[in-house]
Amino acid sequence: MIIAPRMRGFICLTAHPDGSRQNVKNQIHYVQQQPALDSYKKVLVIGASTGFGLASRITAAFGSGAATIGVFFEKPASPGKTASPGWYNAAAFEEEAAQKGLYAKSINGDAFSDAIKQQTIDLIKQDLGQVDCVVYSLASPVRLHPKTGVLHRSALKPIGKTFTNKTVDFHTGVVSTISIEPATEDDIQNTITVMGGEDWQMWMDALLEAGVLAENAVTVAYSYIGPEVTEAVYRKGTIGRAKDHLEATADVITEQLKSINGKAYISVNKALVTQASSAIPVIPLYISLLYKLMKSKGTHEGCIEQMYRLFSERLVKSGEVPTDTEGRIRIDDWEMDAEIQAEIAKLWEQSDTESLVGFGDLEGYRNDFLNLFGFGYKEVDYDAEANELVDVPSIK
Ligand code: NAI
Ligand code: NA
Repeated sequence: MIIAPRMRGFICLTAHPDGSRQNVKNQIHYVQQQPALDSYKKVLVIGASTGFGLASRITAAFGSGAATIGVFFEKPASPGKTASPGWYNAAAFEEEAAQKGLYAKSINGDAFSDAIKQQTIDLIKQDLGQVDCVVYSLASPVRLHPKTGVLHRSALKPIGKTFTNKTVDFHTGVVSTISIEPATEDDIQNTITVMGGEDWQMWMDALLEAGVLAENAVTVAYSYIGPEVTEAVYRKGTIGRAKDHLEATADVITEQLKSINGKAYISVNKALVTQASSAIPVIPLYISLLYKLMKSKGTHEGCIEQMYRLFSERLVKSGEVPTDTEGRIRIDDWEMDAEIQAEIAKLWEQSDTESLVGFGDLEGYRNDFLNLFGFGYKEVDYDAEANELVDVPSIK
């Protein structure tokens, strides 16, 4: 079929298999241009099909020659309907890995469930014995709790009072004012249940108990802090409470991994266009200002540049792992650069539909958004028939 983007609000209903392959290839190419890494060799990535998780998997495999197992929740295609982009990414990743002789298998299903954890453990036992690194990179709006059977929905809301600020519809470039009502106590608890650290802890419990974590194994989960302009809706909002919980869980897991001399880390990453971040109000306006400034300063990074820097300069296998005073790895350092942030604060005040055309990188935003779904790649002929029924080789 001929596949074109079909936008509905902040999601795209279609994905392109050849463009998704190009996305994966470009990331692999970036890593291959960098110095080889002597990093982890048997890596489990939970949330491995898009965004930071996919980039982590690519960095581990193509940077360090790691065997990887990827867990994700994606939809295969059905006749006349494309797969979700992460499905195509995973298919392309596995094929590229196979060509390099790299072990890569994937598990598609709900990572919050006991069954998928068990399936992952069985696969590690069967093929790798143990893993030495676990990347936890889930982003989900819902979680079916495996013990209670309750379906929790996260919220993106401020806490305490109504938040009113600017946002941009990145499709049209229209800047408007939005107001978001404060969260209820239930919203807060649900968001912590979905995006906090409980599931990460359950994973590490299960992996440790099953004996599939190697001596000195590490695990890393991703967090975000961001600027003052987004604070009320992000770091001091419901999602921030979940991130507080996730960050606190790192200490609990480290304690629990003492028997194998393991350690849990938080990496605070840069704001980037992903399916998860596009859905958060205010963030697209911030990102469009940030991208423009970081690009002109030469410090802009995408997911793959971030993850390569994480594994090459931060989460190093031997030697000191540099952290902030709260023990967190910071690869949001270039985003949080004082000069950049001062400039954003100034431009924020001036931003409206007309002025943003000049000082916002809306084109960069849109292009990155299209790229998430395999669109907007110059190497791909979008007028040609594409085979949407692509298999992920390791998934039967
Ligand atoms: P993403 O939406 O690109 O990736 C989410 C991944 O989780 C996908 O592989 C998806 O298949 C998987 N997933 C979702 N629900 C699942 C489930 N129930 N079972 C199995 N897999 C499931 O998200 P992104 O942006 O890469 O986020 C990953 C982490 O990075 C999140 O913790 C996020 O808060 C954090 N982060 C994101 C930033 C951003 O600007 N995008 C900035 C800093 C941190
Ligand atoms: Na991810």
